[in-house]
Amino acid sequence: MGKSKDIYYPSKKVVENATVKDYDKLYKKSVKDIEKFWAEEAKRLEWFKPWNKVLDDSEFPFYKWFVGGKTNIISNAIDRHLKTANRNKLAIIWEGEPGDIKTYSYHALAREVCEFANVLKAMGVRKGEVVTIYMPQIPEQVFAMLACAKIGAVHSVVYGGFSHEAIAERVNDAKSRVIITADGGYRRGKPTQLKEIVNKAMEIAPTLEICITVKRTGEDVYMENDRDYWYHELKSLPIAGHSCGTEEMDAEDPLFILYTSGSTGKPKGLVHTHGGYSVYTSATHRMVFDIKPEDRWWCAADPGWITGHSYLVYAPLINGATLFMYEGAPNHPYPDRWWRMIDKFGINILYTSPTAIRGLMRYGESWVTKHDLSSLRLLGSVGEPINPEAWKWYYRVVGQERCPIMDTWWQTETGGFVITPLPITPLKPGSATKPFFGHEIAVVDEDGNEVAPNEVGALVLKNPWPGMARTILNDPERYKDTYWKKFEEKRWYHAGDSAKKDEDGYFWIIGRSDDVIKVSGYRLGTAEIESAVVSHDAVTEAAAIPLPHELKGNAIHVYAILKEGVSPSKQLEKEVKDHVAQVMGPIAKPEEIVFVDSLPKTRSGKIMRRVLKARALGEDEGDLTTLDD
Ligand code: PRX
Repeated sequence: MGKSKDIYYPSKKVVENATVKDYDKLYKKSVKDIEKFWAEEAKRLEWFKPWNKVLDDSEFPFYKWFVGGKTNIISNAIDRHLKTANRNKLAIIWEGEPGDIKTYSYHALAREVCEFANVLKAMGVRKGEVVTIYMPQIPEQVFAMLACAKIGAVHSVVYGGFSHEAIAERVNDAKSRVIITADGGYRRGKPTQLKEIVNKAMEIAPTLEICITVKRTGEDVYMENDRDYWYHELKSLPIAGHSCGTEEMDAEDPLFILYTSGSTGKPKGLVHTHGGYSVYTSATHRMVFDIKPEDRWWCAADPGWITGHSYLVYAPLINGATLFMYEGAPNHPYPDRWWRMIDKFGINILYTSPTAIRGLMRYGESWVTKHDLSSLRLLGSVGEPINPEAWKWYYRVVGQERCPIMDTWWQTETGGFVITPLPITPLKPGSATKPFFGHEIAVVDEDGNEVAPNEVGALVLKNPWPGMARTILNDPERYKDTYWKKFEEKRWYHAGDSAKKDEDGYFWIIGRSDDVIKVSGYRLGTAEIESAVVSHDAVTEAAAIPLPHELKGNAIHVYAILKEGVSPSKQLEKEVKDHVAQVMGPIAKPEEIVFVDSLPKTRSGKIMRRVLKARALGEDEGDLTTLDD
């Protein structure tokens, strides 16, 4: 790769290898007729019955894609590979944190998924029913997701770092009857206690009737008759046969729900479908990462997030690649764990987050360079803006100045990449570069006028795309209000991010413009954090804001008002922090809690978080006309 003025050009070899050789040409063609573009992509997949309409926009903003088409994501992720040489190819290579390794060919994966699917059927799981999954990063988590999809059940994966309250809230919203978990997983050498957390969730989630537990750590767990079942016991029964038909689904039938934080306290259950999502995730993955049949692909995200759903599980399987998956912490037992595994398994592409890169960067280069990373061809980044320093380290030390970095901007709502380079794109560190095919994207002011180059504005997506979330479970009005109301007449999707576009048409994402905080790439709502703080006995009111943090990107800082008669202390600060971690999960633990006597509010009583942030950063507090004294 060559470099000039902080622009990094791809090498001849990368360009020769690339699936897409001319971005501008294909881009123009794609936006001239998005339906034609997406229909061509959809034809690469297998359908039980083809669609009769590519896009139905008659019920804006509730778009429908591939209307009338019948498919199941499993026909493309598994079944069709069994008819080709891929059958005996490795689908999954997994390494557990203690060092145990498991591998599954597509044939073996198909058997595991059929067995799991048959177990679910025997437990009475039916098409359309929501099954909750709360698991460590073990192969069974992937099998469970795929098994649900196969029989037409809708999975709702809850990240394994969340608390029992968070599980219960999601289960109660989706009215889930069955939950799949494990006794635990390994993290930093210690077993986690997942089943115990599920047991607590079951006490406050009345719809849950059945819990299926996979044995991973062998720790003692509490199980109840007629409610709790060990997966390995069910799997050994005649009900768990090796074959199971793949349910014929409507293209628009839901594949999964994934909850994400928004501006209010209640997480949003975004709904993704079988048809459009299959097309969108596989097309973006194939073109952006130049996926080749022999590739070993590692998406280091947890399946509990959208990145894990789209690019750890579904897209690589649809594209017939070999996916690698690792259970534990990146620095366990030593900071070279990742580099060791890349060397050992000959990984070709690594897709991870800026937080992970910054975390590994601080241990120094020698942990990386002592391993042979010559198998790497491409690198990827996702989840938050990557600071140029981390970008350059990733590029120089991990990619050895050979591997372009695909900095992909997207969201739980978009299903897949939206702003992203291709391997042929000249790169500017810190910019996610240009729109993916089919997308017209702008940075606009309050009234929807495009702002001048390098000026900050709101990011809007002008065209619908097949991978878009279709609605919010049980709350279509909220879906409309959150994403479509602001520019309703123009029918633009309002992403909730602020951004700039430079004179070369490159996009630079600044961050969330709503009350969402990105901590280590995790998405948390200020309202959820504040309500967790206030649920502590000593606190009456609280405001949470993000402040820059060297490793995490942002850290949570809380300003809290104590109840009458309670005195602030270091001990109390620690207690409240631990309380938030307990209620929401460790990722939400605040960095700092400042006890204050009052909070800046508007006259109508809304907390002005931007004022708190400006004060903390020593910046101009901006327009204070609405501030109540
Ligand atoms: O603010 C953007 C940031 O992550 C948000 C979406 O979060 P989530 O739904 O959890 O999905 C994360 C994984 C796709 C966006 O609104 N974001 C994501 N990718 C990038 C990013 N910010 C800058 N650059 C990125 N590459």
